[in-house]
Amino acid sequence: MGRKSSKAKEKKQRRLEERAAMDAVCAKVETANKIDDPLASFPAFKKYDRNGMNIVIECKRVTDLDPSTVDWAVELTKTNMQTMYEQSEWGWKDREKKEEMTDERAWYLVAREGDSAVPTAFSHFRFDVECGEEVLYCYEVQLESRVRRKGLGKFLMQILQLLANSTQMKKVMLTVFKHNHGAYQFFKEAMQFDIDESSPSVSGCCGDDCSYEILSRRTKYGEHPHPHGSPYCGGCCH
Ligand SMILES: CC(C)(COP(=O)(O)OP(=O)(O)OC[C@H]1O[C@@H](n2cnc3c(N)ncnc32)[C@H](O)[C@@H]1OP(=O)(O)O)[C@@H](O)C(=O)NCCC(=O)NCCS
Repeated sequence: MGRKSSKAKEKKQRRLEERAAMDAVCAKVETANKIDDPLASFPAFKKYDRNGMNIVIECKRVTDLDPSTVDWAVELTKTNMQTMYEQSEWGWKDREKKEEMTDERAWYLVAREGDSAVPTAFSHFRFDVECGEEVLYCYEVQLESRVRRKGLGKFLMQILQLLANSTQMKKVMLTVFKHNHGAYQFFKEAMQFDIDESSPSVSGCCGDDCSYEILSRRTKYGEHPHPHGSPYCGGCCH
């Protein structure tokens, strides 16, 4: 009887500790989402003027972007990605993609040509909880074809890494199609992302049939992953 109740107490204590840890994770994400302009402290990253380009970069919530920029981002994503989606188990759905890209939790980096303010590239990202960890999830990084292979994609990813560090997120995560060979090489080799422990090829959930991988790169706050794996996979703050 005595042993049983002390076991029950331990269990309750563990549950309380887990709840407190999860609350702390959610609090970090909430704090990050409340920042006015996460890029404000890094003025050097608001400009990219290498390789003949003169680019200005801004960081905004989707709700603060003008509608024409949102429409441009949705169109660019369709132009760049529709065929890739159609070659996967997901298929392409205009409405779903637009909903995802205009969700009020969405943040954007937008790169514009300095003289004309014409947008040329963007990244849609979110501060969120994935498998019990606070992360910066990169939903999209999309460049117009005329500005590719000039280091701008790498620069945008470096900004995401910087924002993840400055908001104490544990890692930057993203999903990439295996058949998007250029992007796959870009993330894995140039940006040194690893296959995340939650990726289907690791977790074994859909094995070789799966057309995508989840990649991640840890920040200085995420150097020591949870020792027993991720206990809250699927958990979130809402
Ligand atoms: C993938 C993408 C974001 C890369 O951005 P980028 O500005 O063109 O890439 P960078 O110039 O920063 O490339 C850095 C390095 O990554 C690697 N790389 C980039 N694109 C590559 C490609 N298509 N094939 C092979 N390696 C590539 C190279 O090593 C490159 O260095 P190098 O040019 O000196 O050889 C951009 O090409 C893009 O928007 N593609 C279409 C949309 C897309 O697929 N997005 C990813 C969705 S998950």
